[in-house]
Amino acid sequence: MLASADATTVYVCVTCQHAGTTDSEPRPGAVLAAAATKAAEGSGVIVKPIRCLANCTRGLSAAVRCNGSWTYVFGGLDAACGPALVEGARLLASASDGIMPWRGRPQPLKRGLIARVPPINFEELE
Ligand code: FES
Repeated sequence: MLASADATTVYVCVTCQHAGTTDSEPRPGAVLAAAATKAAEGSGVIVKPIRCLANCTRGLSAAVRCNGSWTYVFGGLDAACGPALVEGARLLASASDGIMPWRGRPQPLKRGLIARVPPINFEELE
């Protein structure tokens, strides 16, 4: 599938390391990115590497975004979380309210939630 500006995208930090480790190669974040890329094959989800999401002390880190939806930042991931990230992205893409549903969300994306950011033009209803 061709990359599209509208595609649901998983950004995986490829420079992340596990806490207490330094200069390990390959970087655990890069291993996670490769696993996510493999898991995304044929799914329509795009995986993009990124160098640092400013969540270094709580790596491994990734973000999931989809146009018109909330954007989610996750930390505390490990190299096996590639499929979880893709599943979360698919859940987000199919959510009519733009919110990644809790039910069915993979466990690493429940315990590893760092923040969510509203879509542009979002207005809180009072
Ligand atoms: S190095 Fe991964 S979030 Fe900073």
